[in-house]
Amino acid sequence: MQTVNRLPQLREAVDRLRPKGPLALVPTMGALHEGHLALVREAKARSASVVVSIFVNPTQFGPNEDLATYPRQLAEDSHLLEAEGVDLLWAPPVEEVYPKGFATTISVRGISEGLCGASRPGHFDGVATVVCKLFNQVRPDLAVFGEKDWQQLAVIRRMARDLDLTQPHAEAIIGVPTVREADGLAQSSRNRYLSSEDRRRAAVLPQAMGEAVRQIEGGEPVSTALRMLKQALTNGGFASVDYAELADAESLAPLGQLGERPARLLVAAGIGRTRLIDNMPIGPRGA
Ligand code: PAF
Repeated sequence: MQTVNRLPQLREAVDRLRPKGPLALVPTMGALHEGHLALVREAKARSASVVVSIFVNPTQFGPNEDLATYPRQLAEDSHLLEAEGVDLLWAPPVEEVYPKGFATTISVRGISEGLCGASRPGHFDGVATVVCKLFNQVRPDLAVFGEKDWQQLAVIRRMARDLDLTQPHAEAIIGVPTVREADGLAQSSRNRYLSSEDRRRAAVLPQAMGEAVRQIEGGEPVSTALRMLKQALTNGGFASVDYAELADAESLAPLGQLGERPARLLVAAGIGRTRLIDNMPIGPRGA
């Protein structure tokens, strides 16, 4: 595996890989876990060469968020990627991505504004801008993201459609189902912030969500199921519930009841000082 951290080196390395066949990009912020490795395996299965980017993107962190403390472990991540047979690691410094005078932001209206966008203003502008840049830098045939960040995936697909991106096309933005721990907790780089007591309690989140999915699919009114879900989280030791919503899987418009289109149950909740997010498909035609 080659590691590059400057754009001219990236372009040379990508030019060498491209003739081999389809090129896949897996964008990450590092601190890799099994969820990321599942993305890499999906990328490998669908392409001839895999590029992974590791970049802790400052523009997607709010002023009171964890940019300074976000886990950085490039040497360890690099070993994991090498073992997966990744071809190229793109690990640029901040000034290579945001040179002096950088002044452009991509803002995907509507879909970015609810759910996590409501409590993390500017977060999805930062994500959309850096992902568009990564797409332009690597020009992959396909890109692979985790469904764990469902709203992020929806925002990136919307951006790709709206901007007529071709490398990759919106249809070549692949979502991979969330990888879960044995007790159901979605794998996340931020799970390491949990104390052992909070980590044990955190399993209430997927359990209560699974129960809400069954209730809604069984005909319970959505409002009742969501109220019970929030109550279960509070009773289980969560300090706050940022949101618990049923939404259209693509547009993320809130839904008061299941319809014909694929839907998603999405939750963000705080435990200790950590904010956890999760989502699950729901309905006869779950996404
Ligand atoms: O999901 C992430 O790790 C990040 O939001 C991404 C897509 C790499 C953009 O910084």
